Amino acid sequence: MNITQVTPFSKGLQEKIDLLSKRREAIQLGSVSFASPLLLAPMSNICAFPFRLLMEELGCGGTVSELISCHGINYGNEKTIRMLSIHPEEKHVGIQLFGEDAESMAKAAKVALESRPKFIDINMGCPVRKVVTKGSGSALLKDTSKLGNFFGTIKKAIDIPLTIKIRTGWDDDMINAKEVIHIAREEGVEFVAIHGRTRTQQYKGQANWELLEEIASESPLPIIGNGDLHSASLVKKRMAKSECDAFMLARGPLRDPFIFLESYIKDNEEITFTPSDYWEITKRLFEYNQMYTDRERTLLVIMRKHMVWFAAGLSNAANFRNMIFKCPELDDSMKIAEDYFLSLETARKQINPDEAFMTSGHG
Ligand SMILES: Cc1cc2nc3c(=O)[nH]c(=O)nc-3n(C[C@H](O)[C@H](O)[C@H](O)COP(=O)(O)O)c2cc1C
Repeated sequence: MNITQVTPFSKGLQEKIDLLSKRREAIQLGSVSFASPLLLAPMSNICAFPFRLLMEELGCGGTVSELISCHGINYGNEKTIRMLSIHPEEKHVGIQLFGEDAESMAKAAKVALESRPKFIDINMGCPVRKVVTKGSGSALLKDTSKLGNFFGTIKKAIDIPLTIKIRTGWDDDMINAKEVIHIAREEGVEFVAIHGRTRTQQYKGQANWELLEEIASESPLPIIGNGDLHSASLVKKRMAKSECDAFMLARGPLRDPFIFLESYIKDNEEITFTPSDYWEITKRLFEYNQMYTDRERTLLVIMRKHMVWFAAGLSNAANFRNMIFKCPELDDSMKIAEDYFLSLETARKQINPDEAFMTSGHG
């Protein structure tokens, strides 16, 4: 896993990355430091080290792994253990665990420490039925009387910061983020990320930023606001005026992987990321994924989805998508992507941030 093996970015792309990255200001949430207040949110089947590392290189201030089952870790499940891997070049990464029982979570957290994450995060936002019916994910928000012991037991097992990612509450009748934050603080949790929807809302409607701002303004712990920040202009507006200490972006960076950098472009500046820049980062992501797995089929599945997301909003994206999904071979798929991105020359991306995109997930 030697990072010097990857193909360097072109001078033009690297200069844009360097210029915009320099404008970021490092932040500290509790005792955890990040390169900027714009973080990549955890996403299952996406936030393994290849995508996380690429996002850090493209200006993201820090990342979190996908949700990882504490039971899978404790059983020594091979696939689960691989999810714990952190690349040596990753700088600000946390590992997110999910589970319903404090002892199992504490045991798994100790194993996770071997990967040397900067913090351990607890998933308390997953709305998926399979997770919730077992009492984990957002179901943890339902019975706050158990939370003190839950947090305390996990905290005692680790010697790095403990953090949580929650929703605003279970449903409209149980909006209890503030109570959860106070319990978390008592038990030494260091920051709280909040997706501004309830569990019953799943991904419907809008994230409730009014509530997020209110919670952040009163919170005894640093708050990371999350939900619907799908474009650099939305991020800029929120960064300019917010009570939140930081922000997490999940779906936005999938279609616009330059969103973290673009959030630092000044209004009078003409800095753009071209389709050929997209091809360069596609190659970089491919190289990182080759370090992650040598299974050709897995690589194909991973690269297909990212390439199609990267193409969103570019011309002929629908046609490109069809070609990619019909192509059974990895090398041929990469060639199709190269031809596609390079044929577009200077075309600009146009994404409608209000258009429905990925309306289910684990948090
Ligand atoms: C495909 C997908 C997978 C997700 N997986 C996780 C996860 O593993 N853990 C978690 O806490 N949240 C997960 N989430 C929720 C996101 O972290 C985030 O809270 C949510 O998507 C709202 O942010 P956004 O509007 O920027 O996408 C996932 C979301 C999506 C779309």
